[in-house]
Amino acid sequence: MNTHGHRTRDVATQKVAEFTGEGAYHGSTRARRSPAVAPPPPPPEMSPRSLDRHLAEGRAAVADFDARFGNLYAVRARLAVPAPEAIRDDGVTFCWCPFAVAAREAGPLTRAVLAAAAPHLVGDRRFVYVDSKIQHFERGDLPVDSRLWHVDGSIVARGERVARLGHALVHDMAARLDPATPSPRYLAYQSSSHCATEFLDAPLTLRLPELVPDFDLLDARVREAAPTAVAQPAGTIVAFDGASLHRAVPATAAGWRLWLRVVETDREVVLDHAILDCYDTVFRPR
Ligand SMILES: [Fe+2]
Repeated sequence: MNTHGHRTRDVATQKVAEFTGEGAYHGSTRARRSPAVAPPPPPPEMSPRSLDRHLAEGRAAVADFDARFGNLYAVRARLAVPAPEAIRDDGVTFCWCPFAVAAREAGPLTRAVLAAAAPHLVGDRRFVYVDSKIQHFERGDLPVDSRLWHVDGSIVARGERVARLGHALVHDMAARLDPATPSPRYLAYQSSSHCATEFLDAPLTLRLPELVPDFDLLDARVREAAPTAVAQPAGTIVAFDGASLHRAVPATAAGWRLWLRVVETDREVVLDHAILDCYDTVFRPR
């Protein structure tokens, strides 16, 4: 399956879908068919250890815990803000593409971003992947079909064990936030300020169930706590991790944006379905 694709873009052909708020960040929440061959056990970074414990102990209800979000958010580089035409014409976007392949295939703007990101990679994980999107927003559009506070790299479990809890999938928040669990490391770039991801940059502790079927309750608890958020500045590369709360926001003006994320992870990702084609879609509230 292709991890990169070249496309000519213009405002008239920007794909637009209705915003429902039910989409997953960077993935699907739908149940998947069981693979023909049992997958290898996940690395410690992705092991749903509190689900394992919950089932082993035969608990009647999912326990609550003090979910401590470290909220790492650190600006690693500030690049010149590119011209809109340079974003529109950069051509190539990526989906779980190995870093070396992305660096080879990228358009000029993306290549410069990857070069600026490279010195900030830690290099202690088995895989380094690149995701990117080039999107044209009208005011009010969202870059993804969700605006919930969430973390990237959550530990997702599916299948028969999860069905016993009444869900198609669960996010193992207790395992993700356990300091003993290795976290994926992220670098994120965005070209523009008119659709700037919001991050928290100070620790926040919330009372949450160890296992959650989606990010709705997490989002509600963050909004109750009403912490001060930081909007990622245009042209910056920021570092964050799997305990960093952030959310997408509606565009405040029309214009092009390149968004790019590099992840260092022990989780091998092999795409089993084509998602690159719809990756650049923007979501428009009715
Ligand atoms: Fe995210």
